Amino acid sequence: MKGLTGLVFRLTPNSQLPTPNSHQDVMNDSIQGYTISGYGRMIVDPQRTEPYVRALKAAIKPGAVVLDIGTGTGFFAVLACNFGASKVYAIEPDDAIVIAKQVAIDNHCADKIEFIQGLSSQIDLPERVDVIICDLRGVMPLYQHHLSEIADARQRHLKPGGVQIPLQDSIWGTLISNADYYTQEYSSFWEDAYGCNLSANRQFLVNTWQKHRLEPEQYLASPQLWQTLDYTQPRDSNNVAATLNWTIEQPGIVHGLGIWFDTVLAEGIGFSNAPDRPECIYGNAFVPLTEPVDLAVGDRVTVTIKANLVGDDYIWSWYTQVETGTDPHSLKADFQQSTFLSVPRSPKSLQQRSDSYVPIVNESAKIDAVTLNLMTAGKSLGEIAHQLHQQFPDRFATVAKAQSYAADLARQYR
Ligand SMILES: C[S@@+](CC[C@H](N)C(=O)[O-])C[C@H]1O[C@@H](n2cnc3c(N)ncnc32)[C@H](O)[C@@H]1O
Repeated sequence: MKGLTGLVFRLTPNSQLPTPNSHQDVMNDSIQGYTISGYGRMIVDPQRTEPYVRALKAAIKPGAVVLDIGTGTGFFAVLACNFGASKVYAIEPDDAIVIAKQVAIDNHCADKIEFIQGLSSQIDLPERVDVIICDLRGVMPLYQHHLSEIADARQRHLKPGGVQIPLQDSIWGTLISNADYYTQEYSSFWEDAYGCNLSANRQFLVNTWQKHRLEPEQYLASPQLWQTLDYTQPRDSNNVAATLNWTIEQPGIVHGLGIWFDTVLAEGIGFSNAPDRPECIYGNAFVPLTEPVDLAVGDRVTVTIKANLVGDDYIWSWYTQVETGTDPHSLKADFQQSTFLSVPRSPKSLQQRSDSYVPIVNESAKIDAVTLNLMTAGKSLGEIAHQLHQQFPDRFATVAKAQSYAADLARQYR
């Protein structure tokens, strides 16, 4: 693991796996979008929604123009109209926008809302807005390209002096003692699964973190601020890093780090996902240590946490050192962990991503190339399907199968 930070990360986590940061419980795994019930669960969560509603109401002056980034099923857009907005631009890449349009009709404000399907970073607006509202987060606010998307929206779409919701998120961390959870998730099952030793899995498991509800009784030290994300400032990097330090005041066995965020939506309005606050939809993160460590009073714990956006999601790395209180030169623990190491990769698959590898393309690549060429030439899905059926009859026994294939490919590039 030494030198990991010096690597040029070319590998992204397996996109088939839900990333730990996604709201796995509200996401639709097949297309990595939200499920309808997932949108609903976010809206009915009073810890999240009530402060958002108050912040939006406070921000909207009569006649205001609002940009709702990630409108989902249209909730904030309709509320903005109810609070006096004269115009709302509601942006959403997901097909949930179909529901949002109906919701606007049902609430008699469809004439005030312009729905645009796409990502905020890909759209232009005819005017700057008075208010931007969004909730682009996973378990952590560092999620996909959201930092740069929020900065881009502010820079291109907000009037000078306009209001942005949220203003900032702060990410907190502490040391957690939770033997039951650690044993269940990272040890016991893998050591003896129906008499079978599966502990080879463990090295991957301890390099990923999980959404998990933490309890304040599990704290082994006071929470510390890891990072404040100030959304009112321009952002030139999606990489963040900071070191947390603790001198242990109560002995105990540390199993991992607990991480969560709180937010300032507007001056004096916000909410917290802290374990000692009522449970919130985002949850907390449990970040395991390679091994549990028995901490004594006076021991010094240093954890450097880094989040680097690679491809479409973050690689999280955490480096933990525990110095013995009585002898600062003696290390009780020295762990280097990263979500980069959470997915098994064979030497062959690594070699196939190196600069020198010359890809050998199979029939699927040829089908994709033909399909994309036809799309670029402006052909309809029906025309493309007939061509694919003729050219690759073994692959597409019917025109309908070819059309379904072409439609899925087109969706990736829309
Ligand atoms: C947490 S949901 C919030 C939905 C809705 N605003 C609500 O509070 O009920 C976030 C939504 O943002 C959308 N989204 C993510 N990035 C976006 C972007 N750059 N532009 C527009 N929408 C985005 C996602 O598809 C998702 O529907």
